[in-house]
Amino acid sequence: MNKVLEIKNLKIAFAGHNGIIRAVEGINININKGECLAVVGESGCGKSVTGLAAMKLIDTSGAVVRTDKHILCGKDVSDLTDREMADIRGRKVSMIFQDALSALDPVMTVGKQIDEIYFRHFRLSKKEAKKKSIEALAAVGIPDPQLRYRSFPHELSGGMRQRVLIAMAFACDPELIIADEPTTALDVTIQAQILQLLKSLQKEHNTALMIISHDLSVVANMADRIAVMYSGKIVEQAAADELISSPQHPYTKGLLSAVVKINDTKGQFTQIPGSLPDPAAKPDGCYFYPRCSQLKNICKTEKPFLREISDTHYVRCHNCGGECNG
Ligand SMILES: Nc1ncnc2c1ncn2[C@@H]1O[C@H](COP(=O)(O)OP(=O)(O)OP(=O)(O)O)[C@@H](O)[C@H]1O
Ligand SMILES: [Mg+2]
Repeated sequence: MNKVLEIKNLKIAFAGHNGIIRAVEGINININKGECLAVVGESGCGKSVTGLAAMKLIDTSGAVVRTDKHILCGKDVSDLTDREMADIRGRKVSMIFQDALSALDPVMTVGKQIDEIYFRHFRLSKKEAKKKSIEALAAVGIPDPQLRYRSFPHELSGGMRQRVLIAMAFACDPELIIADEPTTALDVTIQAQILQLLKSLQKEHNTALMIISHDLSVVANMADRIAVMYSGKIVEQAAADELISSPQHPYTKGLLSAVVKINDTKGQFTQIPGSLPDPAAKPDGCYFYPRCSQLKNICKTEKPFLREISDTHYVRCHNCGGECNG
């Protein structure tokens, strides 16, 4: 069994003011042991709710979450209770969020917060937990870990706090880590250091990683595969190098040209004109058609399927990867 995460036909809907918000509409996610899958797309396309659903962390009092299959670390978690899931979270699967300050408890030292993980999952003694926590702080490059063990979150810089979250995520040597925009709140230099740390720990521990980002350039170098989301659907998925060198979907091409433009000496940033459709009133046909430069008649009326154009490359577009049928 090589897959650490297998989700089939994930659908997530919320009750919105103007009708039902179909946040995710039937996506499949597969991540193999030790593999890094990046999920990218612009704000509101459904990345975070996908990550949360993988962990079964969506509050179902205000949402409907459906899957045909949901296997996490070899276990069917579709019908697990919250209590059973709590045993898996942190130990076999953990999550790193964007905002370390709100993810950490402000009135507890960071050391104690890591200790808690060892108490809960391994029932270590206080002394053993402290030793492990200090080792964990050292492993994420926190200088003077004995001293930092006693620091409160507000006494650390943003980068250091993110390192603490990474230490917590790796504490139990999980099989899968879901990192949702782990560096978005940091400045560019620190961002690069944190990504490097995440990448090296991931390789060292052979942990599978699902990294979520709105910025393709942030994840392009670290991912084995990339899934591009648009308005609740995966519109293109491929091996990372294939997606970067040979993007097929007009949306992916737009994201990539925005990346190229940022790196340009002129520093110009060209966004794809337009915005995501209202999630409570999506267009007929392809959701991207109002913004698409390759628009054909069929795009306005028929929803494209995710088509396999090679063993490793899938695209959801009427005009890509085959004859134009518009
Ligand atoms: N609890 C909720 N109640 C209602 N709608 C929600 C809820 N959570 C998410 N949504 C909606 O679901 C859609 C997807 O949200 P999600 O947070 O997954 O986007 P995202 O891709 O992570 O965006 P960002 O890059 O801004 O983090 C959005 O339209 C959002 O408004
Ligand atoms: Mg998000």
